Amino acid sequence: MTKLTVNIDHVATVRQARRIDKPDPVWAAVLAELGGADGITAHLREDRRHVSDRDMRILRQTVKVPLNMEMGLARDIIEIALEIVPDFVTLVPENRQEVTTEGGLDVAGGIGKVKDAIGRFSAKGIPASLFIDADERQIEAAAEVGAWAVEIHTGRYADAANPRERESVLEAIGNAAVSAAAKGLRVHAGHGLDCMNVSAIAAIPQVSELAIGHSIIGRAIMIGMVEAVREMKRLIEAASCR
Ligand code: PXP
Repeated sequence: MTKLTVNIDHVATVRQARRIDKPDPVWAAVLAELGGADGITAHLREDRRHVSDRDMRILRQTVKVPLNMEMGLARDIIEIALEIVPDFVTLVPENRQEVTTEGGLDVAGGIGKVKDAIGRFSAKGIPASLFIDADERQIEAAAEVGAWAVEIHTGRYADAANPRERESVLEAIGNAAVSAAAKGLRVHAGHGLDCMNVSAIAAIPQVSELAIGHSIIGRAIMIGMVEAVREMKRLIEAASCR
């Protein structure tokens, strides 16, 4: 069954709009678990625009399902991850101007840097997943640097302008999933997934885990966090059992 990892960053985004202490993403993580989340993701950005160091540390102590720390390759963030020891890390490119993570990590263009970081995580027993585009060159590079998993970027699929484009991106994601799995990498996928588009990605047999944030937090505002996670879980389960 395809797993669902819930990204709680945007609960922190709402908190930071007022720079006070609520809503608390730690509380949201508890409710996401009650709704059936198989994992919790939080992205500690260099600019700390949403999740804070305090959030990461308390999440580490309270989250019972696997905790995924999403992060760029900045030295101080790597040090924090090594200290917190999440269940796994997902390495992403980070750019201060971006609204959200825009493209995949250029592993092929930065083999040395990524390999060094993965080596440091491995020494602490922390598996590393790499957020990459559905691109064979990046998959080969991910295998070369010793990644544990790849998370295939589904943003272009979610944002496709028409059904033909969506089909073609979906095919590329499917091929990338097959190729990554054949190289011994676990395959995750995420970005831009919602109730309307999740099924086709959840149905890709090699995809073992989906990382979903914005749409679940958006639904949670309307119907509550527990129910928003349950709703997504039902859709993923129906699609991955097909
Ligand atoms: N995976 C990664 C690597 C991301 O950066 C994000 C966005 O924070 C997500 C998944 C979740 O994307 P969304 O919020 O669009 O569901």
